[in-house]
Amino acid sequence: MQNLKIYVYCNGKWHIKSSGWGQDTANLCPAFTGEKIIERVEENNTENYINKTFDNFNETDNEINKIKSFLKSEKIKNLLLKGTTGTGKTHLAKATELYSMINSKHVEFIMAPELYHIFLESETWNKDYEEKNNAKQSLSSFEHAEILIIDDLGCKKETKNKFFSTNLLLLLEKRKKGKLIITTNLNIADNESFIKMKNKEGYLNSIYEPRIISRLLEKCQKISLVGIDNRLK
Ligand SMILES: Nc1ncnc2c1ncn2[C@@H]1O[C@H](COP(=O)(O)OP(=O)(O)O)[C@@H](O)[C@H]1O
Ligand SMILES: [Mg+2]
Repeated sequence: MQNLKIYVYCNGKWHIKSSGWGQDTANLCPAFTGEKIIERVEENNTENYINKTFDNFNETDNEINKIKSFLKSEKIKNLLLKGTTGTGKTHLAKATELYSMINSKHVEFIMAPELYHIFLESETWNKDYEEKNNAKQSLSSFEHAEILIIDDLGCKKETKNKFFSTNLLLLLEKRKKGKLIITTNLNIADNESFIKMKNKEGYLNSIYEPRIISRLLEKCQKISLVGIDNRLK
């Protein structure tokens, strides 16, 4: 059995939902005052996402305002959060998810390697019916979400194969509207400049076909996170 914790967000902060609170939403949080409640279930052994909020993020270049303007913009469709490991990509992505939830947006956050497993579960023959159905429902949610966040694209091996990229392209094609946020520690160049480059290491372009790259770069804003690995501080 998975070791899970359930949190509820209300009155501007997260509370751990203790077992005795019951199912009535008004009883979920002791400090409930009528504010909309957001619930999040997390595995106990993962990094603590509930602390990843805009309030807890030390900005270097006005990143939070840039993200908030991106979310409001009608012109800009995609956001690429780029930076080496530990520079705060996942922190900002989770904070953006929470901010969007609080603003009543349909937002979906998925780590790229998990997305690979969902693609796999949605297709595999003889797969447990319920698992397959859940995977299909998740994909449908990713397709229709107002904001889809894919964390750590092109990093782990699960996200570097043909099966993943074929399904990623399909998902991007199905998403007719809405915003896409990608975090990655790789670079990205427009398809033409990439062809001219000699050193192709470290580019999303060397992993994904031009049709994916041009969709990611369409009406795209880039935010580069710099600094040392915050995990080592
Ligand atoms: N600018 C920042 N302000 C506060 N905490 C940060 C910042 N950048 C990173 N962290 C913290 O450092 C750790 C690693 O950050 P994370 O977002 O997971 O990095 P990345 O996804 O870029 O590898 C996390 O615990 C995160 O909350
Ligand atoms: Mg990360």
